[in-house]
Amino acid sequence: MTKTVLVIGAGVSGLASVKHCLDEGMEPICFEKDTDIGGLWNYHDWSKEGDPSLYNSCSINTSKEMTCYSDFPIPKEFPNFMGHKHFKKYLNLYADNFSLRKYINFNHSVENVKKAEDFENTGSWITLVKNLNTGTTRKVKTDFVIVCNGHLHTPHMPTFAGLDKFKGKVIHTHDYKDFRGYEGKRILVVGIGNSGSDVACELSRHAEHVYMSSRRGTYVIQRAADHGVPFDHLALNRFSMKLPWSLMRPMFFNRLNRRYNHANYGLSPNKRFDGSVLTISDDLPNRILLGTINIKCNVKEFTPDGAIFEDGSDLKNIDVVVLATGFIYDFPFLDDGIIRVDGHFPYLYELVFPTNLSPCTLAVVGLVQPFGALPPILEMQARCITRVFAGKCDLPSASKRLEVVEKRKAFITRNFTNSPRYSLQIFPILYMDRLATMIGCKPNFWKHFFSDLRLWYKIYFGPATPVQWRLNGPGAWKGAKGAIEKVQEHTYFPMKTRMSGEGEKDGLYEGWIQLFKKICYIILILLFVRYLVVNGFMASFVKSV
Ligand SMILES: Cc1cc2nc3c(=O)[nH]c(=O)nc-3n(C[C@H](O)[C@H](O)[C@H](O)COP(=O)(O)OP(=O)(O)OC[C@H]3O[C@@H](n4cnc5c(N)ncnc54)[C@H](O)[C@@H]3O)c2cc1C
Ligand SMILES: *[C@@H]1O[C@H](CO)[C@@H](O)[C@H](O)[C@H]1NC(C)=O
Ligand SMILES: *[C@@H]1O[C@H](CO)[C@@H](O)[C@H](O)[C@H]1NC(C)=O
Repeated sequence: MTKTVLVIGAGVSGLASVKHCLDEGMEPICFEKDTDIGGLWNYHDWSKEGDPSLYNSCSINTSKEMTCYSDFPIPKEFPNFMGHKHFKKYLNLYADNFSLRKYINFNHSVENVKKAEDFENTGSWITLVKNLNTGTTRKVKTDFVIVCNGHLHTPHMPTFAGLDKFKGKVIHTHDYKDFRGYEGKRILVVGIGNSGSDVACELSRHAEHVYMSSRRGTYVIQRAADHGVPFDHLALNRFSMKLPWSLMRPMFFNRLNRRYNHANYGLSPNKRFDGSVLTISDDLPNRILLGTINIKCNVKEFTPDGAIFEDGSDLKNIDVVVLATGFIYDFPFLDDGIIRVDGHFPYLYELVFPTNLSPCTLAVVGLVQPFGALPPILEMQARCITRVFAGKCDLPSASKRLEVVEKRKAFITRNFTNSPRYSLQIFPILYMDRLATMIGCKPNFWKHFFSDLRLWYKIYFGPATPVQWRLNGPGAWKGAKGAIEKVQEHTYFPMKTRMSGEGEKDGLYEGWIQLFKKICYIILILLFVRYLVVNGFMASFVKSV
């Protein structure tokens, strides 16, 4: 008999889960409380408590070649950092291409999930589903459950002294749609993450003035990096990942501060750079330079018309406080004890499989915070889960899973803080490779090294696009090689709307000049080494050897 899988939610995670259930010969039954697919990306011009919500100006912050599902690249005509409408279009294309919609029940909310009576033997689940059109409920029994309810839908509201006495308006970025209604106001944005920066920059064009308060500071990355290459093409590659962090840290520091010095703009982080204090914003430094945004430190307390900061300074006549304080996650429909959560830390092996569930017939997709695009990671989770459920891939025992998770927890609590962001933080390539090893689809470097050097070079030194994990193993895709070779072409295609003229020839010999420069450097270094050997302190060393 075909195994059945209940999928909760039809966002990026849910769609990938439905697709991969089908790939593994199982029958997905998906429930989505919204009226369409897309989750966060199914934009509404209103927001509702507990549902994901976007501001209208939101564009994706990772490039299209890095953000796509691995066997379905984003069309080459689409912009690299597309707006939410475009991204929703892509999700529609994906759903249509793999005929996913017929497995999704819209306007259906999952109210409760619990173990069936025969769980010990069968591992099956009973789910209570409510039809939001009719108000009726029904029970569904399935062999497996994949939870895809998203983790950025419920605002995290830290307690601030005095905020309850503040007389102006207080909102969370979750409920911010656009600048209308904020014209001419004095605004304080608390938090300097991606949403906080986007909202502050937009408001600063219409408001009287915008202040941003930041506890930790941040490095700001622009979408267009050196030479206009999308930043994630440079940041996520296998070669630099192999280099030691002690070497990379100063290099990153240099790169991040080349355009402008973060300290001069009031932005530099309080703590040492560990790869997680990064915000993607093209505008923030410019808005600061133009004087429409000023950065302040942590808020000590709010007053009825403003705020006092930890450095003793204060602001008066503030009309609006925007909390850009992130989100908390929960699984309101799951019976207690199915997924153990300690503080913000979930007891999930690889952030996917519960540690205390045996047989492990329920799993979570989407509870992860990478530096990089989410969709390919969510897809890899769905791939891994459906392989495990289909019995084609082994999962470590419950005790082994617990051991691994406890180790991870110790690492995070000692090295970072137990916040939602850090508890879910992973390094994309390492994480993808770990799941890919379970599945058997990790790129085979040696094979490519001997059979196709060009491809090997692109995998190793080029951007680590998700397509890399479709080259071999289960789920391999014929178009993978071509897609890897066309990354550059597809990146620049949507911008080629004007023929370039004579100006292109200005840089005719640039490549040669660069090469010449490099050769000069090498000669200088060799001369210096020779000097050290012949005259310097190394002379005695060389003699003694
Ligand atoms: C402002 C903002 C900007 C972002 N920008 C980017 C970006 O540029 N790039 C990037 O990679 N990521 C970005 N993200 C992260 C984003 O969350 C992911 O890209 C992705 O949308 C997560 O998909 P998901 O399916 O896991 O969750 P969601 O998109 O939240 O979807 C969950 C779905 O489950 C449904 N659901 C929940 N509970 C139930 C229930 N009980 N019953 C039935 N259905 C239910 C919801 O209705 C929803 O449709 C951004 C997030 C935010 C908040
Ligand atoms: C993009 O924005 C989302 C939402 O703010 C955030 O969770 C994610 O980390 C950002 N991506 C990167 C690469 O910073
Ligand atoms: C903290 O990080 C360092 C370097 O990444 C690592 O060597 C150390 O073991 C970590 N601490 C814990 C408690 O894991």
